[in-house]
Amino acid sequence: MDQKKFYLTTPIYYPSDKLHIGHTYCTVASDAIARYHRLRGEDVMFLTGTDEHGQKIEDKAKEAGVTPKAYVDRIVEGPGGVRDLWKLMNISNDRFIRTTDDYHVSAIQKIFKKMYDNGDIYKGTYKGKYCKPCESFWTESQLVDGKCPDCGRPVVDAEEEAYFFRLSKYADKIQHLLEDTDFLQPRSRVNEMVNNFIKPGLEDLCVSRTSFTWGVPVDFDPGHVVYVWVDALSNYITALGYMNDRYHDYAHYWPADVHIVGKEIVRFHSIIWPAMLMSLGEPLPKHVFGHGWLLLDGGKMSKSKGNVVDPYILAEHFGVDALRFFLLRTFPFGTDGNFSNELLIQTINTDLANDLGNLVSRTTAMVGKYFGGTLPDGCGAAAADKALAGRCQEKGCVGVIPEPGDIACDVELIALAATLRGRYEEAMDAYAPHKALDEVFKVIQRANKYIDENTPWTLAKDMEQNGARLAHVLYNLLEATRVCAILLTPFIPDSCGKIFAQIGACEGCRTWDSAAAWGSLGDTAAVTKGENLFPRVDVDKALEELEQAAGRSAAPAVEVEPQRTETVDFDTFCRSDFRAVKVKACENVKKSSKLLRFTLDDGTGTDRQILSGIAMYYKPEELVGKTLVAIVNLPPRKMMGLESQGMLISAVHTENGEEKLHLIMVDDAIPAGAKLC
Ligand code: MSP
Repeated sequence: MDQKKFYLTTPIYYPSDKLHIGHTYCTVASDAIARYHRLRGEDVMFLTGTDEHGQKIEDKAKEAGVTPKAYVDRIVEGPGGVRDLWKLMNISNDRFIRTTDDYHVSAIQKIFKKMYDNGDIYKGTYKGKYCKPCESFWTESQLVDGKCPDCGRPVVDAEEEAYFFRLSKYADKIQHLLEDTDFLQPRSRVNEMVNNFIKPGLEDLCVSRTSFTWGVPVDFDPGHVVYVWVDALSNYITALGYMNDRYHDYAHYWPADVHIVGKEIVRFHSIIWPAMLMSLGEPLPKHVFGHGWLLLDGGKMSKSKGNVVDPYILAEHFGVDALRFFLLRTFPFGTDGNFSNELLIQTINTDLANDLGNLVSRTTAMVGKYFGGTLPDGCGAAAADKALAGRCQEKGCVGVIPEPGDIACDVELIALAATLRGRYEEAMDAYAPHKALDEVFKVIQRANKYIDENTPWTLAKDMEQNGARLAHVLYNLLEATRVCAILLTPFIPDSCGKIFAQIGACEGCRTWDSAAAWGSLGDTAAVTKGENLFPRVDVDKALEELEQAAGRSAAPAVEVEPQRTETVDFDTFCRSDFRAVKVKACENVKKSSKLLRFTLDDGTGTDRQILSGIAMYYKPEELVGKTLVAIVNLPPRKMMGLESQGMLISAVHTENGEEKLHLIMVDDAIPAGAKLC
């Protein structure tokens, strides 16, 4: 039978100054999935890389006084850069693509030309709104409070000759793809895409720019550069050799099994990317999985908010495996999760130090103490145990009916461990690494309970009478540990290597097959108590050290938008009616990840409703009772079917290239309706 292939990708990362724990989450999850498929013996291609073109990079390089290429080279290849971080985090990518690589650039030109030649790209005039930091074009109707619906920052008017991609032509096919197949996962993301983007009408997409040069030039029309998302998305195929000679495995690996991406870029991957592939006449990836965000204090982590968590600091403090484990154990992959140092330490202490660490150290120590490191021949998986394991696996369940002579705790432990692989596999195949880990830890916890039930130290008091039972108990513990270590390898590879060494697991009993073969470990395997794999963390000390370390990291560079030079006359200015308003109620708008719905007291006696695209910055409950500033004489606008009667005023700036937003809050002594002038 042909070896099964598995091609998975992470997004290619923007080379911002430093990647944070949110980016690390995305890559570590993809890595665990890649390692899982390798463990199963599949032919895996795991791709990651960097997305290096666009106006933002051009601007930053200019500020830094270097060429854009020199700028990205430093951040991608330099010390502490993207590649370094993935090396540190033990990321096992098979390939790394940079969109500035020559082969990719020339392939993009060919891809663009192919879509132009087949009539899907045409020349027109672009009039609309552009969000510089997001490098996204928006139509007026897509803006939220007149600002970028993705990041809430101001957009600028843009009008220029440009090429367009006939996205509208593919609307029906994309809707069918999303609604009637399992292409986009988790399923909960489908409605958001269909309702927010497809049903309002897919417009053709502007796919070239003339206002900057740092991009892939359209070779048949100098002056135009290819829209950065067309350039970036194509990486998934150019990295395999599509339209280039650098690689030759396009036919082998494409279509991808899965693109793992964060939720805010699902739109690009589930609408634009399939449409591009349809236009190129190429097969579509099998799945796009949109994971949630790691939040800090309820908001998206971003450098500008000063709430970025540095993976280097955490890895240095707790170890790479502990950090990898924490990310995937704690947060359900498809939804958002709140990061905190406390939670990290608690997970390390509970799961790694107490449960896993203790199981390994207690078991190996007892084999050393009572048997000099080698259990006696014949202690192991007696025929009855193997038969029991076989019975359990056949039934695929853990509720086995014991047979006469079975010892209840042996039955339970063996039944649970021998069937673990099936439950783990189901979870991993559903992109639910947190569930897979949960299953593994049920076995680890059962094994620890088995120690307490059998009290080996009591058995050891009379070796003549109980020696054989003691050896069998310890063997079962080693076996349960072995099965768990195999399945933990994709998550904490280095630690599992050490566990295998400590329990004397040979190469053949570290494999996927042997994870479902109870009794694979030799009876007389050489067991050695090694280093304590996961020392307990002293919570107070660690928190204090982390605080100090965070303080040591350089203060973020603050940037504000350049002030406008054109003037508005005083009368025009005075026509804008700014008022103090009090928040009576605030809630998330259903089906929108961005919008908050405010009910405001504006002093008129009638409630005013304003919608604001700031859900990623504030929790609704923290705003109730605050006094804010609103402009109240804008024409009402509908968003997600709700009317917004004005706009709330906030301050925005960027720090280290990322946005920061604060609602303007004024003294609560100011009454609702007071005019600001
Ligand atoms: N360059 C684009 C992707 C192009 S793919 C053809 C991009 N880059 S990014 O660096 O901004 O983000 C890369 C990935 O990191 C995204 O999947 C994004 O969701 C993820 N994360 C960034 N911050 C995150 C959190 N706070 N939490 C979880 N993932 C987050 O988008």
